[in-house]
Amino acid sequence: MRRAVCPGSFDPVTLGHLDIIGRASALYDEVVVAVGMNASKNRMFSFEERTDMLREATAQYGNVVVDSFDGLIVDFCKARDVQVIVKGLRAISDFDYELQMAQMNHGLAGVETMFMTTNPLYSFLSSSLVKEVATYGGDISGLVPEAAGRRLAARFAAS
Ligand code: PNS
Repeated sequence: MRRAVCPGSFDPVTLGHLDIIGRASALYDEVVVAVGMNASKNRMFSFEERTDMLREATAQYGNVVVDSFDGLIVDFCKARDVQVIVKGLRAISDFDYELQMAQMNHGLAGVETMFMTTNPLYSFLSSSLVKEVATYGGDISGLVPEAAGRRLAARFAAS
């Protein structure tokens, strides 16, 4: 079985993430969306909330599963028999860091990384910007899946 992983923080999942996941699901037998549990970053959403949003957003794809990882992504790949990491590239500014990670991951464990160019509709989109827009009451309906939009609306209605 050709299995790929789409790893990330997904805080929250955006339509850009979903576009990459959906396109990867057409290329591989199974796509594992792996939510990083690494506690080093400040998160708006808990690990459970991020995972729930992803499960709702990817329910339309029969071969996409949502899982989590803590530690190195290559260890997750070995444990789950995943051969390929799929990453979206929005702009050349993404490439520098992604190249380093891809080479490190290949050097550590021989795991390949495939880069998929982001749909130009989403090349400006990031979870950080979505949070900033939502924080100041901007419209995020065209930026995140409905499930995430509802969570963001609830979060800001409560604060
Ligand atoms: O959505 P993000 O925050 O850009 O996701 C980054 C993530 C979680 C995919 C990346 O930081 C990662 O793979 N972290 C796990 C640690 C690891 O394996 N790093 C790569 C080797 S240097």
